[in-house]
Amino acid sequence: MNKILITGALGQIGTELASALCERYGQENVIASDVRPKKETDEIVDCLFIPLDVTNPKGVAEIVQKHNVGTIYHLAALLSAVAETKPQIAWNVNMNGLYYILEVAREFHCSVFTPSSIGAFGISAPHDRTPQETIQRPSTMYGVTKVAGELLCDYYFKRFGVDTRGVRYPGLISYKTLPGGGTTDYAVEIFYEAIRSQKYTCFLKEGTYLDMMYMPDAIDAAIRLMEANPDRLKHRNAFNVTSMSIAPEVISAEIRKHIPEFEMNYRIDPIRQAIADSWPNSLDDSAAREEWGWKPTFKLPEMAADMLEKLSKKLNVNNLLDHE
Ligand code: NAD
Ligand code: SER
Repeated sequence: MNKILITGALGQIGTELASALCERYGQENVIASDVRPKKETDEIVDCLFIPLDVTNPKGVAEIVQKHNVGTIYHLAALLSAVAETKPQIAWNVNMNGLYYILEVAREFHCSVFTPSSIGAFGISAPHDRTPQETIQRPSTMYGVTKVAGELLCDYYFKRFGVDTRGVRYPGLISYKTLPGGGTTDYAVEIFYEAIRSQKYTCFLKEGTYLDMMYMPDAIDAAIRLMEANPDRLKHRNAFNVTSMSIAPEVISAEIRKHIPEFEMNYRIDPIRQAIADSWPNSLDDSAAREEWGWKPTFKLPEMAADMLEKLSKKLNVNNLLDHE
């Protein structure tokens, strides 16, 4: 079998995708890569790891050729809040990195999965049940690179026949690897702080509804889409996917069902609040459901219960959920 390469594999998604791909296709068929070296504390499966900066086209080509790579899960990117602080670097990593991956995929006949985001929409898109196809005028560098990336991936499919596929992920909630500097990070931090101190200060204001998804569903979406029958795909880059539309006080109330003493207050970060306000409240994911059978497993209650249980074990907090 041709090998599978993951770029940005030490990040929030990559660490969990690597395990899932190894389990499904065999550890010997998966190569993890990242711009930074792997550390003892990285919770990534023990497959082959190769340092790779995606802004180095020669490095990308060498790995793909040498290891006979057939599929690339291209996760290397800067997330929304970090990208706003370093827009030039974000353009370089998110756009030039993607361009080099697509060029190598064209030359060596690889298929490519590239995640887009709810950040690919802006204030002028409908905010509730945002359609699969609608106006996309984001106001952030992150969003600009996501829309341009979707278009570039479609172009490589139509013009060169590269099998490009992608989803517009919402905020992802997980317990293995911390998020990398996004606007939706509060939805992970809140669980850590609920367990550590039973208090959390949220940087988004009450009533800020955004789509979210638990990591097992996000991993399932990526693999399911890459395995989907291409004849059924009317869209490619990128499919709206979602599991739940929630605001900070909604997660807080759910956590209180397990930890009654949990308290949340607010200190608004104006930059991340402005980003969140420009994003959809909820997505319409019917195209993904129809074209490749997308169906999430976790809603808010199941996600919160699982997060609290797994994180309590990880953080070695034993008696907090004992009353359940
Ligand atoms: P992350 O920030 O956790 O991980 C990204 C990884 O990319 C990091 O390990 C980083 O070291 C690496 N990286 C940065 N620059 C690189 C370079 N030049 N070359 C190689 N690697 C580099 O991000 P993530 O959450 O795992 O996101 C992966 C993809 O999914 C991104 O495209 C992101 O936009 C998208 N996405 C994520 C979310 C989410 O909530 N996590 C939501 C929507 C879309
Ligand atoms: N979670 C991501 C972010 O906030 C959404 O793309 O940047």
